[in-house]
Amino acid sequence: MDSLNVKNEQVSMKFVILVSIISALGGLLFGFDTAVVSGAIGFMEQRFQLSELEVGWAVSSLIIGCIVGAALSGLLSDRFGRKKVLIAAALLFIIGSIGSAIPDTFTGYIIARIIGGIGIGFTSTLCPLYNAEIAPAKYRGRLVALNQLAVVTGIFVTYFINLWISNSGDIAWGISHAWRWMFGVGAIPGFLFLVLLFFVPESPRWLIKQKRPLDALKILLRIHGEELAKKEVIEIKKSFEQEGGSLRQLFKPGLRIALIVGVSLAILQQITGINAVMYYAPEIFKATGAGTNTALSQTILVGLINFIFTILAIWLIDRVGRKALLLVGSASMMVCLIVIGLAFQTGNTSGPLVLIFILLYVASFAISLGPVVWVIMSEIFPNHIRGKATAIASMALWAADYVVSQSFPPLLSTAGPAITFWLFAIMSLVSFLFTWRVVPETKGKSLEEIESLWITK
Ligand code: BGC
Repeated sequence: MDSLNVKNEQVSMKFVILVSIISALGGLLFGFDTAVVSGAIGFMEQRFQLSELEVGWAVSSLIIGCIVGAALSGLLSDRFGRKKVLIAAALLFIIGSIGSAIPDTFTGYIIARIIGGIGIGFTSTLCPLYNAEIAPAKYRGRLVALNQLAVVTGIFVTYFINLWISNSGDIAWGISHAWRWMFGVGAIPGFLFLVLLFFVPESPRWLIKQKRPLDALKILLRIHGEELAKKEVIEIKKSFEQEGGSLRQLFKPGLRIALIVGVSLAILQQITGINAVMYYAPEIFKATGAGTNTALSQTILVGLINFIFTILAIWLIDRVGRKALLLVGSASMMVCLIVIGLAFQTGNTSGPLVLIFILLYVASFAISLGPVVWVIMSEIFPNHIRGKATAIASMALWAADYVVSQSFPPLLSTAGPAITFWLFAIMSLVSFLFTWRVVPETKGKSLEEIESLWITK
């Protein structure tokens, strides 16, 4: 009997891992879109004769789309289901990739990037949320963090593809064609994502919300086995009976804290500076005196460290918990940022010091704020309001990303690198203190148990 149970558990875990990997492919698209523009921008600048402002717009137009997509993702996915909106996201992403590759005007490119961005806004919110809704509590952290692994894999692989494409011809070919290939290649993972989504079941929690408990039971049976599945359907149903799904409830005492935790962590993930490094790494390394080629290989190193430490986070997140990772990561990010600021302040940038501490900073982010924030955002809100609430937090994250990526270049040239990195250090301290005082540990709890944390507050 026992061995039968073990076998059942293995079969069902295989199923959960499969659906989670499929939905995590959305993370790969997120990572691709984060990194692709860094390789294309130099060629586009010459092709379209872009001003400084237009260069900024070429990078940030995607983020505007992401804010819109994240804002709509909750409403749409509560209404039409997680799966349908993810399918729409895949289509938008494919249109965005091909659309960014073919236009002969800058405006045509911008429109395509915004369309693709809406798709990324959808997937960045819904893939972790879908994973959280389908995973058994014991493995939820790990399965949701798979999404982050997909993001960093996307970033890492795209750096190489960019390099390979730009090395495939001379400069003239680069200006006329290379950037088009860089964007167009995205259609391939987009198409793969679209096809695989048809094999993915709808979220059981959303099905129960739609009063389709039998359909939900069928899926839960494959995940948890008979006894647990029936118990879960009852628990999930009960969680929907408490209140409706109106946004106003999020502002009532109790749930208000969940909202504050989700939105604050989302903003802190960005204002501690990660995308200043991810989007502008080659420029930072050039500021330390590195040549273009050295700067590019150092950027690839950033991608590699991000990847390796995200794997470590996946291994740790359900063992040591979310809170411990956030605390250690934020403290270590703060120390690294102080040292980087000091190096710039004292002019000590010619040795490997800045590179070493940037890599340590990225490693610290990758074991903490990187995966953990997306995990917490997708698990702390109650069933009846999860779609909309996660969408609010995700929108805040993208808006903060926009602010940081827009203000980093002017900050560097006005306040200087030392002050800029120290500002990020102060934000890392805020992240540490906020986690310590306000964020609850959610490791190992079922989504319904987490829900009851807020109600009893
Ligand atoms: C963040 C992104 C960031 C990426 C880097 C994600 O968790 O949301 O903004 O670019 O991590 O690994």
